[in-house]
Formats: sequence, structure tokens, C-alpha cells
Amino acid sequence: MNTTEIFNEHVMATYGRFPLTLAEGRGARVRDDQGREYLDFCMGIAVCSLGHCHPRIVDAIRDQAGRLMHVSNLYYTESQGLLAKEMNLEHIKLPGKIFFSNSGAEANDGLIKSARRYGHLKPQADGKPRFEVITFQQSFHGRTLGSMAATGQAKVQQGFDPMLPGFRYLPYNDIAALENAVRDDTIGFLLEPVQGEGGVHVATGEFLEALDALRKKHDLLLMFDEVQAGFGRCGEAMAWRVNAPNIEPDGISWAKGMGGGIPIGAFWLSDRVVDEKGTKLSSLMGAGSHGSTYGGNPLVCAAAIETLKEIREKDLAGNAIRQSQRIRTAVASWELPVVTEVRGLGLLIGIALDAKLIPTGERETCALKVVKSLISKGLITVPAGPETFRLLPPLNVTDEEVDEALAIVKDVLSQF
Ligand SMILES: Cc1ncc(COP(=O)(O)O)c(C=O)c1O
Repeated sequence: MNTTEIFNEHVMATYGRFPLTLAEGRGARVRDDQGREYLDFCMGIAVCSLGHCHPRIVDAIRDQAGRLMHVSNLYYTESQGLLAKEMNLEHIKLPGKIFFSNSGAEANDGLIKSARRYGHLKPQADGKPRFEVITFQQSFHGRTLGSMAATGQAKVQQGFDPMLPGFRYLPYNDIAALENAVRDDTIGFLLEPVQGEGGVHVATGEFLEALDALRKKHDLLLMFDEVQAGFGRCGEAMAWRVNAPNIEPDGISWAKGMGGGIPIGAFWLSDRVVDEKGTKLSSLMGAGSHGSTYGGNPLVCAAAIETLKEIREKDLAGNAIRQSQRIRTAVASWELPVVTEVRGLGLLIGIALDAKLIPTGERETCALKVVKSLISKGLITVPAGPETFRLLPPLNVTDEEVDEALAIVKDVLSQF
């Protein structure tokens, strides 16, 4: 049996997989099991921020694995504390505390639970807790019961009714729709500063400021899902700061790029004092309120520390801005009718396509058709919705690698 056959026999078919078995990778390149090399501008969907098998991460994992891989969160471990310190002092730069999870969906569940706790501390006039979290159409927050309910896309929720109650989806970037949006039971907003899976849409500074104003007016929580956008990918350590540098959120979630390839997620709560007794928001998640057996174990934290230090020390957010500009300039210069728009921030780039110009097969979107074509020419990318594909190269991608990828993109898109 080959790998595909073993998968088909034994692995649940929750993914529509490309017919590609990836075997090894280095930097921006991967090889399949036939030895064919590809440029990887998917990077595990924005996970491998330093490329595949970066020596700094590999060394950290090897070293930590030989000393201590896992102990319970009932004890202190050096690497979890140091990772939280690196995140707080060097990247978030706001007073707060961090909880480590294993994935982005879990991190968002943690934020949703935190919001509910806040709703108990600050209830409605009749004493009932506030609990509704407003999220946005086309958002993506994950696949757990909580994060799925928070996700404003019917296709993600289909067949899993009833949803966890307490979510309402407003149109993204629509300031007018915020008027009268806050109800008695509303406790906060959760949104991606750049919607990734939903088609690569960037929240405007005005929209974020409007949410911030509502937060202050109604004593709500403003929570950013930076799972895909955070830690340098958008050209800043924190993606919301690109368009709204003065906002100080109450909660943040991350996963993906923070670990460079190991499974890690996290959520952060502000140390902001929220009542006259001096209660800090972060203290609402006290002992016994939340947990994770694996969350933040020594192995993953050792890898994430080196990932975040490399991003900071080498100014990879700066490289993300520079390479983004090169990509945008090149795509614009082609003047191809099939490209309707280039969206995104930094190296979270969405190239939107004119579906009318791309003939597709049955149940195939134009984005999927283009991605398949790119793979056949040696460039791995990933769709974002039906009419957009993403470029998510590693943050340390070089000029040569970008030029090589652009040549393949131009070649493929010129056919339409
Ligand atoms: C913005 C955002 N939030 C949450 C998630 C869920 O993360 P995970 O797959 O690690 O649970 C994703 C995954 O694509 C995401 O892009």
C-alpha cells in the first residue's frame, strides 16, 4: 500500500487533500516522496514562519527533547515562563498574562470562556450574566464547538446544530452596522485583524477604532484573533497595530506562526483593572478555571521561544513588508485581467481572481483550479474562499525565492 492508500483506508476524510505526499523540507522548499521539489508558499497555512526545519528551532527541540519533553502544568517549567516573558515584553508590549494551548481553536475557546467570566463579573441590570460575543461574517475561528459557533460562515457550521449559543455575526468593516448592535447581554467583540480563511480581508483602522469606542462605552471586551495574522506575518508583531496602533485590546489569541511548526497556541488577557476593587481582567481566569494537559509543555515552548526570538532579532516583520511590496508591485505590473485585486498585509497576501475568466471542473472553485495549476508547476499555495488564493511564504523568504514564485504565478495566471 502506498501512503495515499493507507490514508484512504485509515485516516478520516475530513480534508479534500491534494494528491501530493510531502516527505522533507528545508527553508522555503519541500520535496515530495518522488523527490520532486516545490517552493512552499503555503507553509502549513502560515505556520512555518521561519521555513521548514530552521536550524535554530531544530536545535532547540533536540536539546529540550533530550532534557525534558513534558511535565504537568501542576509544576513550573523554565521554558513556559521564558516564552510568556518574550511574548509579553518583546512582542505584545502591554501588561497582561498568557495561557498556553495546543491550537488556535482552543485559544479562541479560552477567550470565549474569559468573556463569559467577565459577563459574570459585570452582569446585566437584572443580574443575569452577559455572554454574547459579537463576531463577523466570513470570519474563521476554528473547529471546536466554541470556535465553530464563533465562526461567521454557514458552511463551517452545517450539520452540527445546535450551535453553542451566544454569538451574532455582523458584516466586517461595516461601521454603520455597529449602530445599535450592542444588546443588554453583549459582552464583547472577537475578530481577526485580517480575515484569512474568509478571503483575506483587512480590517480598516476606522472600523477597529469604532469597535474600541463601543467597547469603552458599553464596558465590553475587545478580543483579536491573531492566530493566522500574528507575530510578524502582517509586518508587525501584532497585526492589529498595522492599522490601529493605539488600540490596547483586552484579549488576543495566537497559534500557527508563533511556534514555527510545532503545535502551540495561546491566549492573552490584559492586566487592565476592571472594577473598583482593583480586579485585573487576567485574574478572572484563576486556579481551576481552565486547563490543558499539553498546553505550553517544555518541548513546544523551547521551539516557540527560538521562533519568536529569530523573528524579532532578524526583523522578519520588516522582511515581510519588503517582500510584500515586491510581490504587489510585480503582480500590478503584469496587468492581467484575471487578477481583480491583491489584498492583505505583509506576507498574508490574497490574490483575487475573476471567476468568469477561469473555466473550472465540477465542484471546483477557480481558486482551487489555480492552486492545482501552481502546484503542477512547482509552487504550493492555498485557496482563501472560492475566488482568492493566498501567498504565505516564510517570513525570511529571499528575493530569489519570491522572484521564482512570481514567475510561476505569472505563467499560470497568464493562461486565463
Ligand atoms: C484566524 C484563525 N483562527 C483560528 C484558527 C484555528 O486554528 P487551529 O486550526 O490551530 O485550531 C485558524 C485556522 O486556520 C485561523 O486562521
